Amino acid sequence: MIEKIKKIKNELGKKLVILTHHYQQKEIVGLGDFQGDSFGLSQKAAADQDVEFIVFCGVHFMAESAAILARPGQIVQIPDMDAGCWMADMADSIMVERAWDELTAIAGEDSVTPLVYMNSDAFIKAHCGRNGGAVCTSSNAPDAFKWAFEKREKIFFFPDEHLGRNTGNRMNIPADQMIIWDRSKPLGGNSEESIKNAKVILWDGYCLVHTRFTVDQINDRRREFPEANIVVHPECTQEVVNAADAVGSTSFIVNYVKEAPAGSTIIIGTEINLIERLAIEYPDMKIMTLSDSMCPNMAKITLDNLLWTLENIGRVNIVTVEDDIKKDAGLALDRMLELAPK
Ligand code: 13P
Ligand code: SF4
Repeated sequence: MIEKIKKIKNELGKKLVILTHHYQQKEIVGLGDFQGDSFGLSQKAAADQDVEFIVFCGVHFMAESAAILARPGQIVQIPDMDAGCWMADMADSIMVERAWDELTAIAGEDSVTPLVYMNSDAFIKAHCGRNGGAVCTSSNAPDAFKWAFEKREKIFFFPDEHLGRNTGNRMNIPADQMIIWDRSKPLGGNSEESIKNAKVILWDGYCLVHTRFTVDQINDRRREFPEANIVVHPECTQEVVNAADAVGSTSFIVNYVKEAPAGSTIIIGTEINLIERLAIEYPDMKIMTLSDSMCPNMAKITLDNLLWTLENIGRVNIVTVEDDIKKDAGLALDRMLELAPK
């Protein structure tokens, strides 16, 4: 299969680019043209104006964002349409619009900026674009918060409670000014007064891969490997983030390892495929998982369905977005791209 994939890649030459997220299996990453975090992959999709076909090895919201940023005529395909994201599924446009109406009826529309994490569908990104908001990723969330606070006094952040809270903590926002929006309750389970006092309103979504990590695991690892540095993704809970030595996006984690001196011991709290690849790439270091946690959605991309996609280039699993949604979601994504991580 690898040889067949390489042959088709050769035949298509510059017409094709294969983008792979850091959580992809190593065989897939090995066949990709560019590997990155959500932000880097979007930048790449927006920049690749000459290619005809973008094959996105990642989850659906990432391929959908590439389709929004692509120029007219470019085709984005994903090897498995069912490669979704649990967290993205925790907010849909009906729920978000209802929450937005309830929230702004109390706080006033001019006082809330909606900020949506990249892990969301195009309808929600479009809602943000229409209402003066932006998309952010784990690599530019602090800059997006700063940008949002310059515009309005409150941020409505969705769908990841933890990235929102960890970013708020980093910006020294007091805990009592960050409230949770429980999507199953009227007013998100809050009183009018707490909404008026809040600086950040956090949707109650989360990632099952990252919320599995615990402070006990960190303590156990530290006992066993006192020399280790522990780095985690900001989708982990605040307790885990506070107990770690460093926190950042998947590309941040890759660079953290790259810049560490030979002989380092690094324990990582994120998806296992990335950690296992880093352990192979840096045999002069001891690189371990905080505990093994796999994203079954990312694992849906296989050599089999990648080959099938390439054999049917331009024809199968094309990711499309309706024009009006594309326009508004594109606004929110363009604002994100302007907030490039430093
Ligand atoms: P990154 O943007 O850090 O790659 O994260 C994407 C993601 O889905 C993490 O679970
Ligand atoms: Fe979604 Fe979590 Fe998988 Fe990332 S690791 S794609 S947030 S389910």
